[in-house]
Formats: sequence, C-alpha cells, structure tokens
Amino acid sequence: MFDKNILITGGAGFIGSHVVRLMVNQYPHYRMINFDALTYAGNLISLQDLESKDNYVFVKGDITSEQDVRQVFQQFHITHVIHLAAESHVDRSILDPMAFIKTNVLGTAQLLNAAQKHWQDDKAHLFYHVSTDEVFGALGAEGKFNEQTPYDPHSPYSASKASSDHLVRAYADTYQLPVVISNCSNNYGSHQFPEKLIPVIIQNIVDQKPLPVYGKGENVRDWLWVEDHARAIDCIFHNGQLGQTYCIGGNNEWKNIDLVHQLCKITDRLLGRAEGNAASRIQFVTDRKGHDFRYAIDASKLENQLNWHPTQDFEQALTQTVKWYLDNQEWLSSVKSGDYLRYYEANYQDRI
Ligand code: NAD
Ligand code: DAU
Repeated sequence: MFDKNILITGGAGFIGSHVVRLMVNQYPHYRMINFDALTYAGNLISLQDLESKDNYVFVKGDITSEQDVRQVFQQFHITHVIHLAAESHVDRSILDPMAFIKTNVLGTAQLLNAAQKHWQDDKAHLFYHVSTDEVFGALGAEGKFNEQTPYDPHSPYSASKASSDHLVRAYADTYQLPVVISNCSNNYGSHQFPEKLIPVIIQNIVDQKPLPVYGKGENVRDWLWVEDHARAIDCIFHNGQLGQTYCIGGNNEWKNIDLVHQLCKITDRLLGRAEGNAASRIQFVTDRKGHDFRYAIDASKLENQLNWHPTQDFEQALTQTVKWYLDNQEWLSSVKSGDYLRYYEANYQDRI
C-alpha cells in the first residue's frame, strides 16, 4: 500500500520527466502515475531508467477525454494531482490556437471535475497546477512579476494557461477543492524538445545550420534550471499552503542574443571548433507575433516562506546542458522524427 497515489500529468514531457524522476526516487512510499497522451512533445525514452521501479506506473491517456481521466482516477485511487500536461510552445499556439484551448483549458477542466467528483471523502487531497509566468504578460526594462501581478496574457498559449489558472481558483472557491498553483519562468536543461530556444540553438550549432534569433534578440527571459524547478514543485507539493500561489524563477535574466552568444562559445569549445565559428551563423529572422519583451520573477515568497532557492551556477548548468545534448544525439533524432519535422518544414522553412 502506498501513502499517496499521485497522478502526474504530462510526465513524459520536458519538466514532467524531471518531476517524475525526482518524486519516484525520493518517495518510495508514494505511487507516481504518469498520465500522458504522448503527443509530439512526450516520449518514454526519457524515463527508461524508471521502468522497473515499483512505485512508478505509466498510463497513456488524454486529459481532454472524460473517460480516460475517470478511468485513471478510479483504477489508481488517485489522491493527489500534479498537473503539467499542456501544449507548451508559444510559436505553435500562434499557428494553431485551438489545440491549446482544447488541451490547456478543457483538459484542465476535465481533471478538476474528476478530482472534485472523486474526492468526496475525509482523506487528504491536493490538486497542484503547474503554470507559467507568461500569464502576467510582458515587463518593460524594470520590475518583476510576483504573486500580486494582475493577469495580462498576450499569446494564445499564455491566455490558455491563464484560463486554466482561473478555473483552478474557481474550483477552489466554489467546491473547496484543495489547490495550489505555481507560475514559473523559462526552464532549461536536459530532455527539452528541440523547438525551444536553447535546444534549437545547440542543435543548429552541431549541424552547422543558421541560428535563428527573433527580431533583434533584445527580448529578455529569466532562466531556471529544470531540476531546480522540480525541487520547487516537490517543496510546494509538500509545504505549500492550500489556495496559495507561488512564483518560481531563477533570478537569472538574459537577453536572447547574449544567451545565444554564450551557447555559441560553450558549444564551439566542447566541439573543439574555433571560437566565433557558431556565432558567424547567427541570423536575425522575422519576429514572433506579439513577442513579449521581458519576463522576470520575484520568487521571494517561495524563498522566504518555504525556504526554496535555485542552486545552479548558470554557466556550469548551461555547459552541463550543452554536454547532455551533444551526448544524446540519439534521443534528439528519435524525438525529432515524425510530427516535429512536418510542422517545422511547413512553417519555418526560413529557419532550417
Ligand atoms: P512539454 O511540451 O515538454 O510537455 C508536455 C507534456 O504534456 C508532453 O509529454 C505531452 O505528451 C503531454 N500532453 C500534451 N497534451 C496532452 C493531453 N491532452 N493529455 C495528456 N498529456 C498531454 O512541456 P514542458 O515544457 O515540460 O511544460 C510542462 C508544464 O510546465 C506546462 O504546463 C507548461 O505550461 C509549464 N511551464 C513550462 C515552462 C518551460 O519553460 N518549459 C515554464 C513554466 C511553466
Ligand atoms: O516563461 C515560461 C515559458 O517559457 C513557458 O511557459 C513556455 O512553455 C516555454 O516554452 C517558454 O516560453 P518562451 O516563448 O519564452 O520560450 P522559447 O524557448 O520559445 O523562446 C525563448 C525566447 O527566445 C523568446 O524570446 C523567443 C526567442 N526565440 C525562440 C526560438 C524558438 C528565438 O529568438 N529563436 C528561436 O528559434
């Protein structure tokens, strides 16, 4: 018997795979049920090391399907949810907003409904919703987002995540569902699907292709090591106060163009190429529509109340990340087969 049966949605994705691994290894007395539809962004190669663990189960299922969700709640007597499953890439949301509304809004509503229906006993339960800082919109040159920042999403992705956050709070207020939400800044690390900035740049350096930088590369993101995010989720899952929101960030702002130069320097060095080789292929390409200028998080609530702090030195962790992609070219070619290529070829001919 396990103390908790935790449904982790989206566990085969980038952040989800790190959360699942941390929870499975750290808590043998909890059972982790990784519930994932295995879209283009999800794969089980990332979790092969967990297959023999007694407290780990994978269930292929779709959060937008009432039947799939009901079945998994019933079969595994789900007591807690950590909800990460989503369509997560802003550029895709601009091309196909409905997919984001379906998964991120309707999918979250299905899960909330199931939790509300199944948790009618006196046992301890928690619905932990993992969200993004993009719900707060864009910052100018100054200031940071915190838990009081009003919502102002701009892309179909961020608007769909904002809707899902509102639904979670609505279920807490209306049905007293025990919930907690976190809003995190940009993550980097191993196992990120190669459509996001960092893995795209690393892979294009390896392949000697142009390095696409949107607009003038002046936009700013606050980068957090994915394993620090997973630790924050563990910390909030165990110690967060019901009904509360926690902002998570790396206190680590980078202009895109500076980050791309940093990646060029590290990757050239690791590949034994001359300095300047990769940077010579930087190409400024058409800007993202409605491109948010700057994100930055004030994580002091999480730091002061729950004693979480980011641990990583950025240069070291970025080097470790580049090394991981260089050493895992098989992982890359396997996740890149299929839908990824068709999508990229259809929409981004100028960038490949
Ligand atoms: P990802 O795209 O790498 O993974 C998403 C996972 O969800 C995949 O495994 C996919 O198969 C699964 N999924 C998609 N639709 C599904 C459905 N209908 N049913 C079941 N599973 C489905 O995403 P990520 O970058 O790991 O992000 C995970 C979560 O964290 C998302 O909710 C995202 O909004 C949030 N987040 C991401 C970042 C970041 O920098 N990547 C930062 C803050 C918050
Ligand atoms: O802030 C949290 C969010 O971070 C998460 O909610 C999203 O799921 C995640 O995808 C990420 O969103 P971004 O849009 O910030 O990440 P992305 O890696 O797509 O882009 C980072 C920055 O780099 C952004 O300013 C756009 C730019 N960019 C991106 C790509 C893919 C480029 O200049 N060139 C590129 O090829």
